[in-house]
Amino acid sequence: MSERSQGGSRYPVYVTRRIPEAGLRLIQEVCDVHIWEGEMPPPKEVLVREVAHCEGLLSLVTDPVDAEVIAAGGRLRVISQYAVGVDNIDVQAATARGIPVGHTPGVLTEATADLTFALLLSAARRIVEGVDTVRSGKWRTWEPLGLLGNDVWGATLGIVGLGRIGAAVARRARGFAMHILYYDITRKPELERELSVAYAPLPELLARSDFVSLHCPLLPETYHLIDEQALRRMKPTAMLINAARGPVVDTGALTRALQEKWIAAAALDVTDPEPLPPDHPLVSLPNCTIVPHLGSATITTRERMALIAAENLLAGLRGERLPHCVNPEVYL
Ligand code: DGY
Repeated sequence: MSERSQGGSRYPVYVTRRIPEAGLRLIQEVCDVHIWEGEMPPPKEVLVREVAHCEGLLSLVTDPVDAEVIAAGGRLRVISQYAVGVDNIDVQAATARGIPVGHTPGVLTEATADLTFALLLSAARRIVEGVDTVRSGKWRTWEPLGLLGNDVWGATLGIVGLGRIGAAVARRARGFAMHILYYDITRKPELERELSVAYAPLPELLARSDFVSLHCPLLPETYHLIDEQALRRMKPTAMLINAARGPVVDTGALTRALQEKWIAAAALDVTDPEPLPPDHPLVSLPNCTIVPHLGSATITTRERMALIAAENLLAGLRGERLPHCVNPEVYL
């Protein structure tokens, strides 16, 4: 424990939503913790007000930790994100102020890959339509031509972004004897050998894949990576899976692609905007399955994320290097 906390002075921190107890407990041992208890994320003006008093901020993907919020945090010394993705944070603005930003890589890889595969299988085998048929009392007999889907076994999977999660999806796909293509900004020769995956430029991957699964971070370069042109390159029988970030896909173009059957189906864990309004056309399209950003939503994974987020926060408050830092240049 740091001298400061032993001496009775505790670090003031703001936590933007209740996270699993294991992580909170660690923080509460040495900090004065103010938690936003709302079901919805704190409004921006609350964030700006709260951050002015704290030395540490524990944020979620739903919080806009932009330049204005960071500028308001005159005493802020660490931002710890309870997620691996940090696209809601202006990392450049934090770096300019010398504030380290932590995140939670690794621990959510397998859970997110599981969810990706659940979405892929669900789209391929029309699980949600099947459930709807049963629930609405429309299941009257076994139908030779009813709810026919696509084979997963032996199909071609195109992975966009072969990072930790993309590679974990590839490992699962091998169990389904899938042929795996990948596109990434850098070639990964070791993974190509280990996972028997083949590199393909994005247009080729889109044209050859039966399933296209997105696993790249949201960056200026990946914003609307899957636009009308990309969707039109896909096979009419192909399915798009997005468990990365909503804005990687142009929502308007995807809506048209599904309505006009340029592609067969989509299954989305993330959307743009998020959440999608319930009256958005994508929500009611039978060939579109949407779940509410559940990639990391298992009990164990969320607990592990909470522990890492707490460790990052406490390290920053103690002036130590964050175990998982997205802007290590602050230490140069
Ligand atoms: C992440 O970690 O970036 C997910 O989107 C939320 O767990």
